[in-house]
Amino acid sequence: MIIRKAVASDVAKLYKLEQELFTDKNFPLSKGSFSYHIGNNLIYLAEIDGNIAGYVLTLIKRRDAKIYSIGVSELYRGKKVALKLLEILHRELLSLNFEKTVLEVRIDNERAIALYKNFGFTLKKELKAFYLDGCNAYLMELE
Ligand SMILES: CC(C)(COP(=O)(O)OP(=O)(O)OC[C@H]1O[C@@H](n2cnc3c(N)ncnc32)[C@H](O)[C@@H]1OP(=O)(O)O)[C@@H](O)C(=O)NCCC(=O)NCCS
Repeated sequence: MIIRKAVASDVAKLYKLEQELFTDKNFPLSKGSFSYHIGNNLIYLAEIDGNIAGYVLTLIKRRDAKIYSIGVSELYRGKKVALKLLEILHRELLSLNFEKTVLEVRIDNERAIALYKNFGFTLKKELKAFYLDGCNAYLMELE
């Protein structure tokens, strides 16, 4: 498995994976959004046998970083791909002197919550009706 930063030529494959991961109600990223984030934020991807197995998109704020989205193709789940992506991302954020990393996650997304807790994120608060369908979110944070 290779973990590396996404580049412009990855957009088509990232978009394909996004369509697999998220339905319209989850607002999957468009090709244009991927291009924008590759230029302005941070996308790490995991490549296995030439396929994009997963990615993590992090929004870069002034002092904090926010994980906007993470996903691993069903084919490659349960193989620590997401954990590896978070590790490499975290290393980079530390080297850039970010003080904390935050994220919001649907309270019904048990796998993602388990992943983030496993990595060391802690629950900070519950945000009521954060999503359009009325679902609450947990705000989680890693110092
Ligand atoms: C959440 C997701 C990214 C996990 O990816 P993954 O590569 O399978 O996860 P990993 O193999 O790295 O798992 C790491 C840890 O996460 C947790 N985890 C992952 N999958 C889990 C599951 N199905 N049930 C419970 N915990 C799970 C566990 O703590 C696991 O550690 P363990 O294997 O030692 O128990 C993946 O399931 C996914 O893409 N889901 C759909 C998209 C999504 O919901 N993204 C998050 C919101 S943007």
